[in-house]
Amino acid sequence: MSDIGKNFIKFTRYNLLPPSDQAMGLPQPPLQTVPQDAKEFIELPTPEINDENVKSFKTLADNRKSVRKYSDTPLSLEELSFLLWCSQGVKKIAGDKATFRTVPSAGARHAIETYILVNNVTGLETGIYWYNALEHKISPIIISESIADKITEACFSQKFVKESALTFIWVADIYRMSWRYVDRGFRYLFLDAGHICQNVYLAAESINCGACAIAAYEDDDMNALLKLDFEKQFVIYLATVGKKLR
Ligand SMILES: Cc1cc2nc3c(=O)[nH]c(=O)nc-3n(C[C@H](O)[C@H](O)[C@H](O)COP(=O)(O)O)c2cc1C
Repeated sequence: MSDIGKNFIKFTRYNLLPPSDQAMGLPQPPLQTVPQDAKEFIELPTPEINDENVKSFKTLADNRKSVRKYSDTPLSLEELSFLLWCSQGVKKIAGDKATFRTVPSAGARHAIETYILVNNVTGLETGIYWYNALEHKISPIIISESIADKITEACFSQKFVKESALTFIWVADIYRMSWRYVDRGFRYLFLDAGHICQNVYLAAESINCGACAIAAYEDDDMNALLKLDFEKQFVIYLATVGKKLR
């Protein structure tokens, strides 16, 4: 494998980015890009289908939005279990070759590990836990009151991290993906992470919680907090979850 994938991650760290066109005051591009051959426009019916299952999915999709303010109500262990299941639950293990989960993954590689920062979950101490998806269990990794502050700081002090009941921290396992897809696998890591996070948004909505994706964080700090060796693993995405304010 070349260094293309790893260099993409390394050279897109916040501290290496030049000022954006937005920061330099350039005008914003249009909100959508119309293909040059799109000349005819066919009206679509209202996006409604008269079926209870469809309706409940549509309600979740309609109501989903990024929520950054949460109530103090803790999440129960059952709710945590539900969110973990919906985002990474293993439905089938194909020998030692692959897993099939509640989200799709390129080549069923499922090369993302789930860590959670627990702030306010009934029965759990504050800290970082790892989700053992194969056995649907969690394992404490760092139990410490101060870890929430440190993770928040690494997220450029976005304070809703420490105010959330829990924050998902997804870690990409490079070789599990590049073993099959070489450098192109880096694309798939990001696509897979997007699927996982979207399920968190929708699952959170279904239990009266709000979620907010986070990609603004200091890579080196976040990787160091989780004691990751960048040659093998890196933090790829995060999402906070908490009960909605009434
Ligand atoms: C890849 C990605 C990264 C994001 N990073 C952050 C973030 O670091 N902080 C934050 O407050 N919101 C973050 N968001 C949430 C977006 O700001 C939000 O989705 C967007 O404003 C649209 O709002 P909505 O989700 O309510 O529809 C992120 C969303 C995505 C998809």
